[in-house]
Amino acid sequence: MADNKNKPKQVGDTGHVWDGIRELTNPCPRWWLNALWLSGLIVIVYFVLYPSLPLINGSTKGLLGWTQIKEYKEDLARVEARRAPYEDKLSVMTVEQILADQEMLNYAIGSSKVLYGDNCAACHGTGGAPAEGAGYPNLTDDDWLFGGDVNEIAMSIANGRAGTMPAHQNILKVEEVDQLVQFVIDSSNGVASEAGWALYTAKGCFACHGADASGVKAMGSANLTDKIWRFSGDEEQIRHTILHGVNDASDKETRVALMPQWSERYAVMLEAIAYAIEDGEDPNEIDWDDELSGDEAERLTPIEIKKLAVYVHQFGGGE
Ligand code: HEC
Ligand code: HEC
Repeated sequence: MADNKNKPKQVGDTGHVWDGIRELTNPCPRWWLNALWLSGLIVIVYFVLYPSLPLINGSTKGLLGWTQIKEYKEDLARVEARRAPYEDKLSVMTVEQILADQEMLNYAIGSSKVLYGDNCAACHGTGGAPAEGAGYPNLTDDDWLFGGDVNEIAMSIANGRAGTMPAHQNILKVEEVDQLVQFVIDSSNGVASEAGWALYTAKGCFACHGADASGVKAMGSANLTDKIWRFSGDEEQIRHTILHGVNDASDKETRVALMPQWSERYAVMLEAIAYAIEDGEDPNEIDWDDELSGDEAERLTPIEIKKLAVYVHQFGGGE
């Protein structure tokens, strides 16, 4: 048994006894009492300095005049002051310039994570790889419908995209569909037969997928010669795409393949800049009052789209 320093026999008791155990009247330890007084003092000091007592409208203000919302606003202002020089620089940089500037690239990528999570991950998955079979394109591979150049990616985001593969169930015979499904499978393995190619050409598939079936960026048509699938390499899924197409209003079983538009305004601007460069003019000379009517829809700002374009480009599939 432990030594009882306070010699219980010499200490008074409260007169309570339970099962032969007496309750003594030892004073509390000094350190404990000091801590108690000190914490009481802290409460009083806090009460005087900070808002504490709830009243009907608000609370006592405290001598320091501190409020949570004020502290939040000060912090926010500090963050914005630190970001302002970067944001200003981004507003005049092209996406290629951002890619070539490591510091700006790091900043753009760092501030895109939340942006991407809020606006894109629901369809394209965190990190650009959607759930299998979800029907959204993977943004991390080297296979692009509309192009993996950073400008093309920016345009995909700004303007949105809509797939144009038509339904063929009323155009093709059942055997032709079977042969074309086989052609697509063979083509992805690099062993398509001559008869397959002939049918592919005769049925007009080449008009969108290209003479060599490797896809045409301007149309967003899928590459049919590789093993990266927009939808699936499964035989039944290929058949479904050929029979019902995508976004084909005349077919109830058509697939939905719509990328929302994030900024009509920025899409118009990107197009105007591209035309100016094509015509050998200086894009900085463009008269935006002339180009923009002012009522273009904008769900993300041009800076946000630039950030997302380099962010997506850095997923690994960028060209
Ligand atoms: C509602 C779902 C949805 C959301 C949200 C969405 N996308 Fe898309 N995105 C699509 C679909 C579907 C396509 C393919 C369109 C097609 O098949 O023609 C696509 C295509 C793309 C492409 C072109 C891919 C290629 O292969 O050329 C890029 C780049 C892209 N999205 C980036 C983004 C970014 C960045 C965001 C967030 C701002 C975003 N998407 C938000 C559904 C979505
Ligand atoms: C009017 C243009 C057009 C024509 C004609 C067309 N396609 Fe397509 N096809 C597309 C587009 C665009 C896509 C990509 C769908 C999307 O936007 O998601 C596609 C997608 C596909 C896919 C899906 C590939 C994958 O990776 O999952 C297959 C398979 C396909 N086409 C086969 C055919 C065949 C076979 C024919 C001829 C009978 C044909 N297409 C005719 C435009 C066309």
